[in-house]
Amino acid sequence: MVAIDVRDVHKVFGEGPLATPVLKGVNFAVQQGELVMLAGPSGSGKTTLLSIIGCVLRATRGSVRLLDQEIVGLPERLLPSLRLDRIGFIFQGHNLIASLSASENIEMLLALRGHSPAEARRAAHAMLDRVGLGDRRDMRPDQLSGGQRQRVAVARALAGNPPLILADEPTASLDAESGRVVSQLLRDLAKDQQRTVVVVTHDNRIFHLADRVVHFEDGRIKEQES
Ligand SMILES: Nc1ncnc2c1ncn2[C@@H]1O[C@H](COP(=O)(O)OP(=O)(O)OP(=O)(O)O)[C@@H](O)[C@H]1O
Ligand SMILES: [Mg+2]
Repeated sequence: MVAIDVRDVHKVFGEGPLATPVLKGVNFAVQQGELVMLAGPSGSGKTTLLSIIGCVLRATRGSVRLLDQEIVGLPERLLPSLRLDRIGFIFQGHNLIASLSASENIEMLLALRGHSPAEARRAAHAMLDRVGLGDRRDMRPDQLSGGQRQRVAVARALAGNPPLILADEPTASLDAESGRVVSQLLRDLAKDQQRTVVVVTHDNRIFHLADRVVHFEDGRIKEQES
């Protein structure tokens, strides 16, 4: 089954003389259970594409189907619940809430997804154990290292089992061992649980875990390798 189907997507930032085309006709499909990595030069539009798939940005034109639902042209007010039900997003630069502990950052998202406080707490602790941060769960982001914060962001995106997982440079601030743990975890989610995973990365140490690596250049897909 095709889980993500992007067709002829264009994105233009700004208007009139300041209009900047960033995506110039992207075609990109991902099967359920597939782990696809998206690589390409800085500024080529990778985060823009991931944000459109993640319902964070709107495409200017084209079609984006997520689990058979068209999202381009959907009213803005329907996007937050779609995001909550379907998407785990690991942002470039993590986006954790500064005043909450590692565990509370995850519990909050689970509460939004309808878990009871006790369930949310148990699931948050289990996810933090999985990314090797069981002993850091009560620390706030400013008390954690960059790599530890990144792993909290990974745990948060995966909590609540969203079917689509989108990760923007999830291993960029990690040492080799933590990078391996996180990328193996993403692969296991695709292979053991049939989740659909798209990872933007420059990290060629993890390319071998992907089913496909898609190369992006100047707002378009340049080539795909298996
Ligand atoms: N809100 C915005 N307004 C105007 N231009 C933008 C906006 N967001 C991104 N851009 C431009 O779009 C282009 C692509 O940005 P994007 O963040 O998608 O690149 P990227 O491939 O993720 O790069 P990197 O590898 O550095 O993260 C850049 O030239 C950027 O300046
Ligand atoms: Mg980016």
